[in-house]
Amino acid sequence: MRLDIITCLPDLFEGPLTQSIVKRSMTKGLVDIAIHNLRDYSTSKHKNVDDYAYGGGAGMVLTIEPIASCIDQLKSERDYDEVIYMTPDGETLNQSMCNALSLKENLIILCGHYKGVDERVRQHLVTKEISIGDYVLSGGELAAMVLSDALIRLVPGVLNDETSALTDSFQDSLLAPPVYSRPEEFKGWKVPDVLLSGHEAKINQWRQDMAQQRTKERRPDLWKKIEGGEDSEK
Ligand code: 6GU
Repeated sequence: MRLDIITCLPDLFEGPLTQSIVKRSMTKGLVDIAIHNLRDYSTSKHKNVDDYAYGGGAGMVLTIEPIASCIDQLKSERDYDEVIYMTPDGETLNQSMCNALSLKENLIILCGHYKGVDERVRQHLVTKEISIGDYVLSGGELAAMVLSDALIRLVPGVLNDETSALTDSFQDSLLAPPVYSRPEEFKGWKVPDVLLSGHEAKINQWRQDMAQQRTKERRPDLWKKIEGGEDSEK
């Protein structure tokens, strides 16, 4: 999988995408992430990437020329499955979208900023618009990192068996059951007996029961879908 992220704040990506699982996936050669500074594609004297909105109003707009130039450059190097624009008015990200996108090979992720991007970018260059939830961030960068992380961990070989994405919350529409580790007792707070029993079938049953109970309590909306057999989250 290759992710090409276009942003006017490239430094923001330094931490999250150069650590931990993402770093390992890159050194293993499973994932390639390239950050592109939009400013590098500006032809104006001061390397501007934004301008006033036609018709007036507060806030600057990311202009189409540097964005088009960057996307053109990338498209001349390889074919892309999607050009994704991160925006609060996009389709809300969920696990089924992540699963589908993780099967793609090459993705461009454009981060919005300021008051947004020139509408013609969205109409003619972008193929998919994604939001990460109903709240407003100051830019698309954090959202792009959330999307990248969610996709990378689904790429085969990125996680080992123990951290396999197959046991995640949401992967089978149920939330994950609780987990415990040593010590068996801390301040009188005990690990459930069944987990110490060594009885695999009982343990699996307990985990299944707890996952169901958790889902019913915390996400009645998800539970309703599962009961209705409408497995739309997969
Ligand atoms: Cl993708 N961008 C911004 N700016 N805010 C958001 C978002 C994206 N998703 C949720 N809030």
